[in-house]
Amino acid sequence: MHLFDNLKKAFSKERYNAQQAQEMAHLYSWGPVIFQVCRLMIKYGILDMLNEHREGMNQDEISAATGLSAYATKCLLEASLTTHIVIIDPDTNRYRLAKIGWFLLRDQMIRADIDFNHDVNYEGWFVLDQALEQGKPVGLKHFGNWPTIYEGLSSLPEQVQKSWFGFDHYYSDHSFDEALNIISANNARHLLDVGGNTGRFAMRCVEYNPSIEVTICDLPQQIGLMQEAVKGKLGADRIHGVGMNLLDEQSAFPSDQRYDVIWMSQFLDCFSEQQIVSILRRAATILDKDNRIFIMETLWDRQDYVPAAMSLTMTSLYFTALANGNSKMYNTDDMTCMIHKAGLEIEAIYDRIGNGGHSILVCKREI
Ligand SMILES: C[S@@+](CC[C@H](N)C(=O)[O-])C[C@H]1O[C@@H](n2cnc3c(N)ncnc32)[C@H](O)[C@@H]1O
Repeated sequence: MHLFDNLKKAFSKERYNAQQAQEMAHLYSWGPVIFQVCRLMIKYGILDMLNEHREGMNQDEISAATGLSAYATKCLLEASLTTHIVIIDPDTNRYRLAKIGWFLLRDQMIRADIDFNHDVNYEGWFVLDQALEQGKPVGLKHFGNWPTIYEGLSSLPEQVQKSWFGFDHYYSDHSFDEALNIISANNARHLLDVGGNTGRFAMRCVEYNPSIEVTICDLPQQIGLMQEAVKGKLGADRIHGVGMNLLDEQSAFPSDQRYDVIWMSQFLDCFSEQQIVSILRRAATILDKDNRIFIMETLWDRQDYVPAAMSLTMTSLYFTALANGNSKMYNTDDMTCMIHKAGLEIEAIYDRIGNGGHSILVCKREI
């Protein structure tokens, strides 16, 4: 395994002494409700208020400010106290924000994850075992009867869509500027954005290079959303959409143009290993020897920090229970193997792109 140094250290030996380990195991066993306490302390504005009132607030003041009953306020505060989200001055009974509370409040990545986990994943993970056993997104059923979440994205309830897109955009948006340099978007004439979703990367491309043309291929429903999203924006006339289901082995990549860059961002993790090989093989058929496929992925073993690797391996279980039942956040060995099976080779890997720990794998046809 290609674990980055920090991860190698963290994952090859015991991290905790027995007492700490037992404490962690208790935390895990109460994980679902601790998660809800965190979310509600944000939702009711309690963490925000405590951040404003550095001198602290007592329970009555919090109750009055939130409109919650004394009972509800007390339950939330006591649960937050014992999980170190807040601290208390035992002489005055005033609560103050602890460091964990501050990160819950201010860390935008944590906020995107909380919304995603509550609105998209929470109920679906209840049947994670069935999803793992059947290789099907059994947890998607309460939203609708689609084979994968992607066919249903445009019809999910508004709040669920907001959190799904918030999560997706949070992770990829921050990487786009660096990515534009790596793919030399200023020299490209026509870029194919595979799984380009609502066109956010395409918009950045047409802003960055005033003559580039971008074609997005995605599911037909997403092409509709994309066209709505880019309508009226500068350069929108250079963004084109091709609706297609790339899981259909018969669907060939668009070959009406010569694409000098084929771009796949956070796309391949939506598919099983077998499906990825098939997609890459078809992409390779439209690739000239001088052109490249750029794959941007968050490979979990190429992270510098344990929480990043943990978030990615947990995201795999969103794919299991909600998205499609058979894809995941891959590691370097898995991805390399699939790229080779598709008749491609990796020319270079750029790591630490953006703030989400993306890597860009530059692939060319095997000679
Ligand atoms: C996680 S999103 C990535 C979006 C964007 N590239 C980014 O970096 O934010 C995956 C995209 O793949 C598309 N997709 C999923 N299954 C597909 C399929 N079978 N055929 C074509 N596109 C698909 C989804 O509709 C979605 O737009």
